[in-house]
Amino acid sequence: MTKTILRALAGETLPTPPIWMMRQAGRYLPEYRATRAMAGDFLSLCYTPDLAAEVTLQPIRRYGFDAAILFADILLLPQALGADLWFVTGEGPRLSTINRQAEFDALKGADDIHDHLAPVYETVSILSRELPKETTLIGFAGAPWTVATYMIAGRGTPDQAPAHALKAENQALFAALIDRITDGTIEYLSKQIEAGAEVVKLFDSWAGSLRGQDFDDFALAPAKRIIAELKTRHPGVPIIAFPREAGDRYVGFAKATGADCVALDNSVSAEWAAANVQVDGCVQGNMAPGHMVTGGQALVDEARAIVEAFRGGPHIFNLGHGITPDADPENVALMIEAVRNA
Ligand code: CP3
Repeated sequence: MTKTILRALAGETLPTPPIWMMRQAGRYLPEYRATRAMAGDFLSLCYTPDLAAEVTLQPIRRYGFDAAILFADILLLPQALGADLWFVTGEGPRLSTINRQAEFDALKGADDIHDHLAPVYETVSILSRELPKETTLIGFAGAPWTVATYMIAGRGTPDQAPAHALKAENQALFAALIDRITDGTIEYLSKQIEAGAEVVKLFDSWAGSLRGQDFDDFALAPAKRIIAELKTRHPGVPIIAFPREAGDRYVGFAKATGADCVALDNSVSAEWAAANVQVDGCVQGNMAPGHMVTGGQALVDEARAIVEAFRGGPHIFNLGHGITPDADPENVALMIEAVRNA
């Protein structure tokens, strides 16, 4: 029997939506914190295949999610392209910056990333052996715009101002960077699929800050190129696109890019998304991550309402963004129970 997530991604409407959760392997879980302490730091965890596979499996053992997402980070690709990368505890990622032509020229080519990323591919192959047979393995990468915002600013920024500034001031350099990341992402995801990823997801966390033609050029077009090339190389491997906070640009995004599923953040209502996005195919989402902190009847009611709103078409239940470290693991169990009994 085909796995439930693959059935939903193929367009099937299921009586109960399959479920997984963004950042399901993470600091809210005591077993994650223990393995991370053993690894020493976050990047060592990402690059030690046995430990990265272990934290990927932890939420599957604890909750029986229908999918496991590879444990890695979207910033490993920039590092493979030659950027310096480190994480400041309690603050987040830091990278060497790309603002001048010479900095771009020092980057590696898209074909030269695989030695660096070999441990990630090894994690994928361990997982494809060790996951329960009913669990789908999801690989991922950041979308070019989101990855570029970190490479340009050297850190997370609330409004992505440095990336917007480079886009305005040096269009050619900005476009070349987007192209290099796009090419690298194709090679990276292609290798994840060869190693055993059954689905891949593109995280465009900052898509919401692109407007009008910029959204077409730097969110939609790169996704379209990545998806077209992956579909040529690996026909039949479904792709989930997550243009977070795209708002009304969620409408038609799957058709325009060739994605098999659009992941929705929790700023759009499930009713609106059912009428305007799910009409084109599978959607994923979109409960507010805050419910994983607050729990209670409000969580149960919201989970049921989301299942109800999307009942008429293909749907994968998820949060609208990653679960936060202050979440209560009991609330995750409560969400799963509410979805499976809705
Ligand atoms: O979802 C999963 O469980 C799979 C693993 C995964 C991580 N990051 C692990 C992680 C995935 C899919 C990501 C994607 C990612 N990483 C995104 C896109 C999705 C999103 O959240 O919008 C982005 C923007 C990043 C970059 C990144 N990584 C930031 C900004 C941070 C710091 C913020 C934070 O939460 O601390 C990270 C660190 C990170 N990536 C952690 C995890 C579990 C926490 C690190 C730790 O354990 O200390």
